[in-house]
Amino acid sequence: MSALLEVDDLHKHYRLRGRGWWGQRSVVRAVDGVTLRLERGEALGLVGESGCGKSTLARTLLGLETPDGGSIRFEGRSIDEVEPRWLQRRVQMVFQDPYTTLPPHMSIRRIIAEPLIIHGLAKGDELQRRVDALIADVGLPAAVADRRPRQLSGGQRQRVGIARALALEPSLLIADEAVSALDVSVQAQILNLLRELQERLGLALLFVSHDIGVVTHVSQRIAVMYLGKVVETGPALDVYADPLHPYTRVLMDSVPDPTRRGRDRMRARGDPPDPKDPPSGCAFHPRCPIAVDRCRDEVPLLEDWRPEQHAACHLALEPLDGADTNEVDRSAT
Ligand SMILES: Nc1ncnc2c1ncn2[C@@H]1O[C@H](COP(=O)(O)OP(=O)(O)OP(=O)(O)O)[C@@H](O)[C@H]1O
Ligand code: SF4
Ligand SMILES: [Mg+2]
Repeated sequence: MSALLEVDDLHKHYRLRGRGWWGQRSVVRAVDGVTLRLERGEALGLVGESGCGKSTLARTLLGLETPDGGSIRFEGRSIDEVEPRWLQRRVQMVFQDPYTTLPPHMSIRRIIAEPLIIHGLAKGDELQRRVDALIADVGLPAAVADRRPRQLSGGQRQRVGIARALALEPSLLIADEAVSALDVSVQAQILNLLRELQERLGLALLFVSHDIGVVTHVSQRIAVMYLGKVVETGPALDVYADPLHPYTRVLMDSVPDPTRRGRDRMRARGDPPDPKDPPSGCAFHPRCPIAVDRCRDEVPLLEDWRPEQHAACHLALEPLDGADTNEVDRSAT
């Protein structure tokens, strides 16, 4: 059977208004050859720093952006060939900011009912029954149905966003920074809800975040992006326990983790590069604590270094703890 989602060598480039030094149009390769596979009911975490292309990839999967190359297949069908409505029924999104993405004048009941009404899936008592069930599914009290978004807390609003996304019974839910706008204690509740829904409903989840700790908490597999490319992918716990790519290690070491106390922290040198002018060879080389000459010239390909764990790094099996002390902050706990 085909996978739920198959993404093959996907490209999405933005041509910017201004022109570069030689008069040519500047181009940002926001998604630059991404290949991914997501099985039914699986949770895949997509992680990387700001600007690495996570949201562009998510938007392209939803059909909101037209790819510049490559293919996306959903349930074995190319998304170029399906009706937008067919895709909407199957792929839904939970947005980052529950404060601005819910229509303020509508009741919660109406907000959750809207996708069912638009798609002609329920009306009358059946519609009310389905809305009540969705409100209960996301752990909200029945009384919220007649309130407006401004009368709810941030966490409650995000639950409404999730209920609205689940109304069409999608097989894939994309959550793009769905907890980043919330307080830490509320974040944990929403993450647990997403995990529980994924297991109970057999829902596939693409969980997008810049925080690798959060991503590992909800995902079975993770994909790490850097400047439009996937640089490491594998089972979440294996990647977290023993990352192959120095960039993954840098992301992990930027997250406070009491269980990792006393270990050297690896930090990237300098700031992320200008995405309009990415570095040659391995795009991470100017920031990489273990880069060698070869990294400047040769683009590393995503290869299987361990069963199920792939990385795009010439030195993927080098022990990262042996990195140059100048690049590793040994004072950090
Ligand atoms: N509509 C657009 N026009 C031009 N450039 C864009 C557009 N959307 C995104 N980009 C650029 O594409 C790159 C990837 O952006 P994207 O929003 O996908 O990153 P992200 O990983 O989601 O970042 P964040 O963590 O900040 O949400 C960035 O360099 C961004 O400036
Ligand atoms: S290929 Fe070289 S520069 Fe790139 S991550 Fe690996 S060691 Fe660092
Ligand atoms: Mg984003």
